[in-house]
Amino acid sequence: RSEPIEASEVKSEAAKRVKIGIYFATWWALNVVFNIYNKKVLNAFPYPWLTSTLSLACGSLMMMISWATRIAEAPNTDFEFWKTLFPVAVAHTIGHVAATVSMSKVAVSFTHIIKSGEPAFSVLVSRFLLGETFPPSVYMSLVPIIGGCALAAVTELNFNMIGFMGAMISNLAFVFRNIFSKRGMKGKSVSGMNYYACLSILSLFILTPFAIAVEGPQMWAAGWQTALSQIGPNFIWWLAAQSVFYHLYNQVSYMSLNEISPLTFSIGNTMKRISVIVSSIIIFHTPIQPINALGAAIAVLGTFLYSQAKQ
Ligand code: 3PG
Repeated sequence: RSEPIEASEVKSEAAKRVKIGIYFATWWALNVVFNIYNKKVLNAFPYPWLTSTLSLACGSLMMMISWATRIAEAPNTDFEFWKTLFPVAVAHTIGHVAATVSMSKVAVSFTHIIKSGEPAFSVLVSRFLLGETFPPSVYMSLVPIIGGCALAAVTELNFNMIGFMGAMISNLAFVFRNIFSKRGMKGKSVSGMNYYACLSILSLFILTPFAIAVEGPQMWAAGWQTALSQIGPNFIWWLAAQSVFYHLYNQVSYMSLNEISPLTFSIGNTMKRISVIVSSIIIFHTPIQPINALGAAIAVLGTFLYSQAKQ
């Protein structure tokens, strides 16, 4: 009697795995493409505050068009929703712009090696600011994460302090974003896709005045002319690609957050960084020393041990 139930359970479990597998593969692929075009743009046009703003603007526009044409159903939000979203958007804006500033100064692989240390920030913030305690194995896993990141940083051939600090600030900001957004999404009827869309819109409002103050139209106009004369019209396609892919990879990652636990999410995020690190080293011919690669490998291994310890 129980056979048909078991069979259908196995089937739905398998279907769920396939669905999550598709989410992950799509998320990583979109992220790799974003990172490559983002770096190509930054090499020719070193204005990370503007490129970060354009990524948010592009995502906001895509979602508003989708809502207006009913491709996607617009969310039903109230003042309370936007109020709760505000701290998430502040953290998202800081994390995004800091990572982009970092990538404008150092190799993409270096930014992502430092960003693989995010679990260490998560544990330290939870411990010291939220008073959460963890089993000793979790704290032990921070040793290879911090040690590996430190080894990779000191042996990095093109080390740059702004690049390093940008990635560190991004780690800290994203830990807060994840803590606030978990609170904000709980019990809300807004889907992962629409939640991320609202986050983009609010972040765009927050970032725009700062981008104008830090860089501003004069710098952008001069840089634009230089980039166009060096690269040609392709530069506009690169800019469009980095903006569209930024929105898409984040949208897919927020959609998958609906389906999986935060732990599975963080394992997925670490594996995403491995694909970005490897592909960007190949594409940009990034020079690396064996000791530098060892540091990166230890850091990434540490994040896996962390996931195991948290389980
Ligand atoms: C950004 O620009 O926001 C960063 O590249 C994002 O980094 P992450 O989504 O890989 O943490």
